[in-house]
Amino acid sequence: LSSTEVDLSPIEEGQSVTITWRGKPVFIRRRTGAEINTAEETPLADLPDPQPDADRVEKPEWLILVGVCTHLGCVPLGQKTGESRGEFGGWFCPCHGSHYDTSGRIRKGPAPKNLEVPPYVFLTDSSIKIG
Ligand code: FES
Repeated sequence: LSSTEVDLSPIEEGQSVTITWRGKPVFIRRRTGAEINTAEETPLADLPDPQPDADRVEKPEWLILVGVCTHLGCVPLGQKTGESRGEFGGWFCPCHGSHYDTSGRIRKGPAPKNLEVPPYVFLTDSSIKIG
């Protein structure tokens, strides 16, 4: 299947789920207000791969990312309760120590680029189609 539909309604604020799309993990996080504020207020000058949060989301509450580290392709931690989210509250890649923020942007470590945002559209207020 080249596209995947996801029902977002069971996902609570602050919760993350991982689905598979084209053989890759896709991270879905329903961000908290604090996570959204932090992502929106980060100065672009602080970012190795400068990109406003608004360019990475359709709706601020929902962050959708390809869960593959842009360094050498490990799957970052931070989706499961209790896993490290790194120093910027997003994801942490344990392979060589890359830290991603609450917009999935690289902040520290060897990864050169932000986590990729896959193509997706909202089908309804609570469902998306990825791909
Ligand atoms: Fe993620 Fe190297 S693969 S830091």
